[in-house]
Amino acid sequence: MELLQMFQNRRSVRQYTDAPIPEETLTKILQAGLLSASGKAIRPWEFIVVRDRAMLNAMADCRTTPVKMLQEAACAIVVLGDESKSDVWVEDCSVAMANMHLMADALGVGSCWVQGRLRETSDGRTTEAFVRELLGFPQEMRLQAILTLGMPVKHPEPHALEELPMEKIHQERF
Ligand SMILES: Cc1cc2nc3c(=O)[nH]c(=O)nc-3n(C[C@H](O)[C@H](O)[C@H](O)COP(=O)(O)O)c2cc1C
Repeated sequence: MELLQMFQNRRSVRQYTDAPIPEETLTKILQAGLLSASGKAIRPWEFIVVRDRAMLNAMADCRTTPVKMLQEAACAIVVLGDESKSDVWVEDCSVAMANMHLMADALGVGSCWVQGRLRETSDGRTTEAFVRELLGFPQEMRLQAILTLGMPVKHPEPHALEELPMEKIHQERF
């Protein structure tokens, strides 16, 4: 499949079967994250792979509305950025998230971005503080997002090139 078709095919998948993700597939997804571009090549990210069912269930309360897909996911990759190392850790971690999400789709694994930064739990704590308490990462490590992963119940239709809002593209001036 050519790369543009992979981008068309990439969809957020929020429902998963009970099937496990093969370990070598998960490794490739993580490698895609580690291969990401980053400002000044600082690569300020750290990834926590969570497979433990009880922990995934606990993490589901990280947002005001429980994150059901964390309760179904075979695993999750928690993406953290070290703000003491880079002032563009948000951008760097977003690139890593996007690359892992695309890699997962290309390998037939369903995944979805769960926003962590700037989000809250139902009791008013930040999503970051909540996840930090569960997973024990240090203060300088900031929560960017969580990528849920699982074998898809079904894959949504690919995006059609004809439906792209080409009017968002401006030539030479706005
Ligand atoms: C920055 C960002 C934050 C997102 N946060 C969430 C989220 O918290 N929960 C969720 O279900 N999907 C989240 N998504 C996935 C989007 O809802 C999804 O990409 C969008 O609806 C388009 O659908 P598609 O990915 O299938 O093309 C997020 C995506 C991005 C890029």
